[in-house]
Amino acid sequence: MKPLKFHTRAARGTAPVDEKTGALSVPIYQTASFAIPPGEAGRARAAGETEGFFYTRFANPTTAAFERDVAALEGAEGALAFNSGMAAISTAVLAHVGAGDRLVTQRQLYGGTAIFFAEQLPRFGVDVSYLDDPAPRAVAEAVTPKTKLVYLETPSNPLLNVVDIEGTSRAAREAGVPVVFDNTFATPYLQRPLELGATYVVHSTTKYFAGHDVIGGVLAGPAAGLHEIRKTIYKDLGVAPAPSISYQFIRGLKTLPLRMDRHCANARALAEFLARHEKVKKVYYPGLPEHPGHELAKRQMSQFGGILAFELADGAAARRFLDGLELCVFAVSFGDALTLVQHPPGVTHEVYEAERLAGAGMGPGFIRISAGLEDAEDIIADLTRALQRA
Ligand SMILES: Cc1ncc(COP(=O)(O)O)c(C=O)c1O
Repeated sequence: MKPLKFHTRAARGTAPVDEKTGALSVPIYQTASFAIPPGEAGRARAAGETEGFFYTRFANPTTAAFERDVAALEGAEGALAFNSGMAAISTAVLAHVGAGDRLVTQRQLYGGTAIFFAEQLPRFGVDVSYLDDPAPRAVAEAVTPKTKLVYLETPSNPLLNVVDIEGTSRAAREAGVPVVFDNTFATPYLQRPLELGATYVVHSTTKYFAGHDVIGGVLAGPAAGLHEIRKTIYKDLGVAPAPSISYQFIRGLKTLPLRMDRHCANARALAEFLARHEKVKKVYYPGLPEHPGHELAKRQMSQFGGILAFELADGAAARRFLDGLELCVFAVSFGDALTLVQHPPGVTHEVYEAERLAGAGMGPGFIRISAGLEDAEDIIADLTRALQRA
């Protein structure tokens, strides 16, 4: 058979029909524990030396099915599922760095990751080196013998900066350091960092994988590295998802590319509309030719994603705009069927003082939109109404 295309692979998953029963859905193995053979065989299974399940905090058949689906879509040897995106990120990072080590990352990151790096890692004696522009050369220059991991995100949340995956991965690899990419904004449908040389890919599956009604995360990459992480820090931290949640992600993946096509088309329509609006100072969307990352995004992404941002005159204008929305919902997160509007300076980034906000490239009138699945005309009508008040 010819290699299957993405929509087909997503719709089928890796187990379209249950081998034992013929069921068209993966069974939910709702159990904490599994009967194991006594003696040496049981010990070897619990130690992760042989195949098989024994306790859901380590592994579960439903979660394993989800992990196989993700690995297949990302082009990875394996995957490890988590109970949140932050669990996946913190575990991946803590698996690689310890006291005296160094992490190289970019300045503009999802706020939760940035806070983890700034507030938790120093407590464990980890030095974090931030790059304003994580270009391949900057990564190569920042890596020292103490650097144990490079951690990058593209497109970045919420400023939509685009990082060169192939170039930075090459720079890290030449220095002998693994590199993790947060691929949450793009999903494996639009961008596959492992095919461009990254070591690991991490996702908040809370977003596009599920269509946004559950919290979860996943790490995809080399089988040996993941096996080691599962046997050690994964079980120590207790970050495995519930089997019923893994089932919801398996279900979500079946429609991922279908939803992404719509999210992307709507985001582009909104970006083009906002770019023409007199009250909008600036639009951030990698699909617009004037975006500084446009050419790079064209090379490494198949479409430009479902998220965009724009800048109004000031914080007061942003609040008037938000008050004027009737259809779009003011809420954090993204990837929902509903169009979600966020005001990072007033919500997720309020922990940052104004100076750091400006340093991060965001003015007080900065607004992020996660384009939903509605008709673009309806969303544009709502934005038009709200902008009249801004
Ligand atoms: C890019 C990115 N990575 C990771 C996370 C964290 O994921 P979770 O909220 O599932 O822990 C988020 C959450 O918004 C995010 O936007």
